[in-house]
Amino acid sequence: MTTRIIATGAYVPEQVITNDDLSKIVDTSDEWIVKRTGIKERHISLGDNTSAFAVKTAKQLIEKAGVEIKKLDLIIVASVTADYATPSIACIVQKEIGASNAVAFDISAACSGFMFALSIADKYIKSGAYNNAMIIGAETLSKMVDWSDRSTCVLFGDGAGGVYVEKSETGGIIKEEIGTKGEICGILTGGYTPCTNIFNKNEEKTDHLWYINMNGREVFKFATKSVVKSVEKVLEGSNINIDEIKYVIPHQANARIVEIISNKLKIPYEKFYINMDRYGNTSSASIPIALNELNEKGLIERGNKILMTGFGGGMTWATMLISW
Ligand code: UT7
Repeated sequence: MTTRIIATGAYVPEQVITNDDLSKIVDTSDEWIVKRTGIKERHISLGDNTSAFAVKTAKQLIEKAGVEIKKLDLIIVASVTADYATPSIACIVQKEIGASNAVAFDISAACSGFMFALSIADKYIKSGAYNNAMIIGAETLSKMVDWSDRSTCVLFGDGAGGVYVEKSETGGIIKEEIGTKGEICGILTGGYTPCTNIFNKNEEKTDHLWYINMNGREVFKFATKSVVKSVEKVLEGSNINIDEIKYVIPHQANARIVEIISNKLKIPYEKFYINMDRYGNTSSASIPIALNELNEKGLIERGNKILMTGFGGGMTWATMLISW
């Protein structure tokens, strides 16, 4: 028995912000951003919060998969930019789509979050606890970006993507490898909320820790190493040859990271599906937005093997090989 993707969905806010737009806000240029990252534009929320994007994605999934809403068992949303600490985004989605019998909760694993969530759903399904699940990665990174810091504000975008999965006899998740390296968690941080209450005199200045703070070079090194190792483990463990893989969907952070991964793994660059030029890095939404695009364009057929691989804050990484 396996867990198979039945439908994909995605939603990004309408407002497009180009590199030239950003060069009017910070000291940067289209040339620098394209050369160093491959990003040309990103979609930025004009006020909608993360749950709005997740709900729109969920509604697409329901429609595309023809789900009988009361039979939906599980909703997991991965995000580091939830509207509230509570309720979770998943609870808001449950309410908005009327999936009253679904268990709903969020998880936090930054850019690896979508695949961590899919991995959890897979275990529930394989254990027999649930028959189906909706997994969504949703982010409004624009509220956690310091718009005066050129080293980070050019990288991120807002949006959501997701999948609806079901228990299946064929296809589905073939092999996964996920991991965490908490010892270097300080190289990528954001969203810090200090402990202040009437019983303490916490005068620590922490406002700046709300914003995404990143040692770009260290994250870059971590990304190339962890993804390469993880993909190697998945390919070895599944006895599947690279030639058998139709597409690799990498986390859409930086085209140079993808080039290095492609070279090290000797996987032709053409096999990597890239859309960071249009969306930037949407963290947990990046892989499902790309998967949905591939699917919507009719580029994948049942039986195709697809490798999804990413890395993110934590530090975390995740690779999953699926049969479509
Ligand atoms: O989902 C995970 C999220 N994070 C990542 O994936 C990030 C991984 N890291 C990266 O993608 C790259 O490290 C960056 C794109 C963030 C930076 O590229 P880099 O080639 O590592 O540049 P750098 O940080 O070494 O900076 C090179 C220069 C510096 O100037 P100096 O010191 O050489 O004079 C920066 O100040 O580029 C400067 N710089 C910029 N210049 C124009 C940094 N950001 C910008 C900018 N525009 N936006």
